[in-house]
Amino acid sequence: MAIERTLSIIKPDATRRNLTGKINAKFEEAGLRIIAQKRIFLSLAQAQKFYEVHKDRPFFGELTEFMASEPVVVQVLEGEGAIAKNREVMGATNPANAEDGTIRKEFALSVGENSVHGSDAPETAAEEIAYFFSGLELVG
Ligand code: PPS
Repeated sequence: MAIERTLSIIKPDATRRNLTGKINAKFEEAGLRIIAQKRIFLSLAQAQKFYEVHKDRPFFGELTEFMASEPVVVQVLEGEGAIAKNREVMGATNPANAEDGTIRKEFALSVGENSVHGSDAPETAAEEIAYFFSGLELVG
């Protein structure tokens, strides 16, 4: 399987509860390498731009206000089949449906405050990585 890169965000509910290290351990145990990482505080406009694809969904306001409410950790994960592997490690969007051992099963509070975001396809991964990182910041 090809080596891929994917964009991951540790969301405000997790940074607030000091869970960054525990979540990073899940990625590393699954064979994903953290090749870039930074802690930032998104403005509302930046969160709205990032989640633009969901702008017509009823939860858009709640989602973007949440993502701009407290710091997040944005990161690039690299590994074999990293996009699918990361989504496996994250678990289902709604923690009530997430498998045992996944990040969302262990840490998420609700479908909105669900601790992590991960890109869903190669095209979105490339766009999302470029939204937060320059090529110089990716140290594989
Ligand atoms: S997915 O993974 O794109 O298929 O999931 P989806 O259900 O389409 O959700 C997209 C993102 O919206 C968030 N979400 C919500 N936020 C707040 N309130 C409600 N009710 C809600 N429902 C979904 C969900 O956590 C997804 O965020 P990301 O960061 O993309 O994982």
